[in-house]
Amino acid sequence: MRIFITGAAGFIGSNLADHLLTVGHTVIGYDKLITGRMEFIDSALRNSNFKLIQADLLDFDTLREAMTGAEMVFHLAANADVRHGPEHTRLDMEQNTIATYNVLEAMRLNNVPAIAFSSTGSVYGEAAVIPTPETAPFPIQTSLYGASKLAAEGLISAFSEAFGIRALIFRFVSILGPRYSHGHVFDFLKQLRSHPESLHILGNGKQRKSYLHVSDCVSAIMTAVERAPDRVSIYNLGTDEYCEVNDSVGWICQTIGVNPQRTYSGGDRGWIGDNPFIFLDCSAIRSLGWKPRYSIREGIVSTIEYLQANPWLLDSRDDH
Ligand SMILES: NC(=O)c1ccc[n+]([C@@H]2O[C@H](COP(=O)([O-])OP(=O)(O)OC[C@H]3O[C@@H](n4cnc5c(N)ncnc54)[C@H](O)[C@@H]3O)[C@@H](O)[C@H]2O)c1
Repeated sequence: MRIFITGAAGFIGSNLADHLLTVGHTVIGYDKLITGRMEFIDSALRNSNFKLIQADLLDFDTLREAMTGAEMVFHLAANADVRHGPEHTRLDMEQNTIATYNVLEAMRLNNVPAIAFSSTGSVYGEAAVIPTPETAPFPIQTSLYGASKLAAEGLISAFSEAFGIRALIFRFVSILGPRYSHGHVFDFLKQLRSHPESLHILGNGKQRKSYLHVSDCVSAIMTAVERAPDRVSIYNLGTDEYCEVNDSVGWICQTIGVNPQRTYSGGDRGWIGDNPFIFLDCSAIRSLGWKPRYSIREGIVSTIEYLQANPWLLDSRDDH
């Protein structure tokens, strides 16, 4: 198939692109290289079935033209950082909601019949039901990021209804693994490289979080692409476990061999919109025959090993 990936030079998008190329598809990557990195698509660029279009999703004419002939869209481009929403309230709306509208409109005009979309467990806000199923009561939003993704989900299902587009919506927990470039493991490793004797943790460290390795994320997406029965399907993606931030800190310190003095900013969450307990019910995607290969601990260790082998990445981003 001729596949169009938005955010193809990002953490998850580049892993997905590599997989799709390996199994023989042609991939058009569309990425403005905001947080994406050319280094992540080094190997893809050596494959004659891959092409990168370096452009903005907000540039509709370029997007529409670039999508000509695509048979499926994997829409991963976004502002993927939850934390800074309140500091610039337009960003999530533009990068996550308007950009998704542009993708859908370009699909409609190009007759592209299917989309897979990277949504987030953040759409559940502070869920009352844990583990949280896809059918949880309509959630109260606690972050602009989650709200912008939920709006994007709404647009996708409405376009699907109106134009018969097949839609797969994935609500990920936090993703770990090779090319991981934002999140708490990144933050902590960066701190520990510059001062291994101390570590500052946002919140009280007791926040309970869920993580999934990027290769498990990609295999779950592909399982749903092949087997999801409905025109619009929504799947939580995660493992059947969660951990405390303090557990994660312990694994990180053990893996790199440090024993820092821990300090905490305090409170039960790290920032506005930080959800103190994320644990998704993933029985729907498991019912399609998928299961993860990595535990949370193995995912964290694999991420550290990747970042230690690629220190340039730790040096490349300042504020996470
Ligand atoms: N990483 C996670 O833990 C996680 C968890 C839940 C959901 N998600 C979602 O998965 C997707 C991928 O996340 P990621 O971690 O790979 O993020 P990332 O920041 O590494 O990748 C996003 C990519 O999109 C590109 N991009 C952003 N805005 C663009 C625009 N306007 N035009 C063109 N390109 C643009 C960036 O340059 C980057 O390459 C995002 O939609 C994110 O919201 C990620």
